[in-house]
Amino acid sequence: MTAVHVVSIDPQASTVWWANRITNLPFDFSQEHDTPENLAVLKDTGARVHVIANQKGGVGKTTVTLNLAAVVADVLKHQNALQHVFIDTPGSLQDENLLLEALKYAHDVLVPMPPEGLAFDPTARTIQKVIEPTGLPYHVLINNWDPRDGKADLEETREYIEAQGWPVLETVIRRYKVHTRASVEGKVVTQYEENRPSYKAREDFYRLAIERGYGGGK
Ligand SMILES: Nc1ncnc2c1ncn2[C@@H]1O[C@H](COP(=O)(O)OP(=O)(O)OP(=O)(O)O)[C@@H](O)[C@H]1O
Ligand SMILES: [Mg+2]
Repeated sequence: MTAVHVVSIDPQASTVWWANRITNLPFDFSQEHDTPENLAVLKDTGARVHVIANQKGGVGKTTVTLNLAAVVADVLKHQNALQHVFIDTPGSLQDENLLLEALKYAHDVLVPMPPEGLAFDPTARTIQKVIEPTGLPYHVLINNWDPRDGKADLEETREYIEAQGWPVLETVIRRYKVHTRASVEGKVVTQYEENRPSYKAREDFYRLAIERGYGGGK
């Protein structure tokens, strides 16, 4: 038993494809899109259940789920009771029932969103129509910002988020090729090679874990 468990309820199963390629997964993993009712057991484990959601495809749900889970598992590697469950969800409107099922067992929701205008409206729909009605606490996480593009897009995105009144995390996950490559190579951020871009890529996820208070004491 590890302190962290990742569940995918995405029928497209890119998480599974990824997770199967990783030889030494630093957390427990299961696929439950056929049997979402299995999620009910999570409620009784005493672990905190975090759902990663945005019905816009390709915003980084799977990337954030697996890498955040890897970092939290690293911080909590000496614990032997389950403490955090991360649920990766589908990036499509058709699978809304699966997302709603996961939200029933969640303590909070993380909403990854890239700093680009095309993502604004679909993200707003997920938040307003699906997440806010549950009353669960949620945070928007800006993901895939390329520092080389300058700060304009980032600032515009923050302004948009603030204008909506959504809680937004200070941590931004930057865009690094290592992340994109990692899904092909079957690696999570704690397993990246030791070089400068990897350090930076990893740093973002440790920051995120610290900002959310995962692994700090409890
Ligand atoms: N911070 C990042 N840096 C570099 N590449 C990234 C980053 N975040 C996501 N990507 C890349 O963008 C693509 C989409 O990411 P990912 O699969 O995590 O999104 P998703 O929201 O899970 O998509 P879907 O809705 O299809 O499940 C992948 O190729 C991934 O490697
Ligand atoms: Mg995904």
